[in-house]
Amino acid sequence: ELRKITSQYNISIYAIGGFVRDLLLGQSNFDLDIVVEGDIQLIISKIMDKWEGKVITHPQFGTSEIILSDGKRIDIATARIEHYEEPGSLPKVERSSLWLDLKRRDFTINALAMSLNEENFGEIIDLYGGLEDLTRKELRILHNLSFVEDPTRILRGIRLEARLGFTFEEKTFKLLKEAIENGFLNKIAKERLKDEIILILQESQPEKVLKRLEELNALSYIFPIRKLPKNFEKKNQILKNEYPQKYELQILNIISEATLDEGKKWLQDLKFPQKIAYQFILLKHYQNISTLSEKDIINLSDLPDDFLLLLSLNSKKTGKDILRIRLLKEKGVPYLKGKDLLNMGFKGKIIGELLKQLFLKHYYGEVKTREEEEKFIKE
Ligand code: CTP
Repeated sequence: ELRKITSQYNISIYAIGGFVRDLLLGQSNFDLDIVVEGDIQLIISKIMDKWEGKVITHPQFGTSEIILSDGKRIDIATARIEHYEEPGSLPKVERSSLWLDLKRRDFTINALAMSLNEENFGEIIDLYGGLEDLTRKELRILHNLSFVEDPTRILRGIRLEARLGFTFEEKTFKLLKEAIENGFLNKIAKERLKDEIILILQESQPEKVLKRLEELNALSYIFPIRKLPKNFEKKNQILKNEYPQKYELQILNIISEATLDEGKKWLQDLKFPQKIAYQFILLKHYQNISTLSEKDIINLSDLPDDFLLLLSLNSKKTGKDILRIRLLKEKGVPYLKGKDLLNMGFKGKIIGELLKQLFLKHYYGEVKTREEEEKFIKE
């Protein structure tokens, strides 16, 4: 569809970035990034005529996003400067908004463009040798200052390395290590750092990325720890498999061995929700406790299952007990619910109290059946 529009209205459109990279690697990517040379509004209105979705424009950047109703995204960029005064000897592509867009990218494999124009549809524009790097499975930056200019690229690179199974090209790797050693990760604004952390945790193998960060001595710039906790990988996989959407669990798992103060400060600095900070405090409290009191058991039974799983994985001595609380909760014991106690004539606060007592009885295996529960309540 876009292809027809280009010849009709004398507009050029190119797909760029991750979309082209993944297409050439035979992997799916639902986010289409395009650069438009010509009337961006026209393209948007044509897309909206064909498909359903909503448009968000960022006039200050000359970009727009279209989020289609099926969840796919199209990011559209155009250059703000449309005229260049350079000598006319440069080839067409080097004076275009496409050129401007490609030259400010992170890695050569992300700086490939594919024409979506009628006359040369599918043609790859490769200004930096990205095609060759794709076949060599290498990550190469476009210029020496790339990591210094934008240190989030250090994290993006490590993420791509793990995801694609690529390696850093030699000089790029040297510059990456230097940028880490010189503390450039400290320059990432807190907000962006948080976004990057979440992106890491959403990868299919975040453990791989985190291990690599550890190996490169980069963890302490990102988290309040220098080393990953013991058995981190296995624990994280369990949490991720059971609760794939809850990145907070992974966060707590990663920082489980930070000190209370450092962990709290870090969570606050990065503006994680209060609830996570509260859970971190609980985690630190229960982590080294040697036996659970009755009060602990009751308190823990009020906490969400996902957090109990995390806690059981990170508590040396009481891990099994905490797991047991979680399992009991999952099975929905006790049999008697608040409603049953109401029917039995109890009112108000005492009901909650009795339910807690029942939970304890189950925990210690002292009541097992509904009859036993009723007998206990009546007594
Ligand atoms: N980019 C960059 N420097 C950054 C962030 C992004 O050069 N700090 C460029 C990259 O070339 C990237 C493009 O912007 O290809 C789009 O960024 P994004 O959508 O975040 O990345 P994708 O490459 O599409 O990767 P992903 O598959 O992780 O979404």
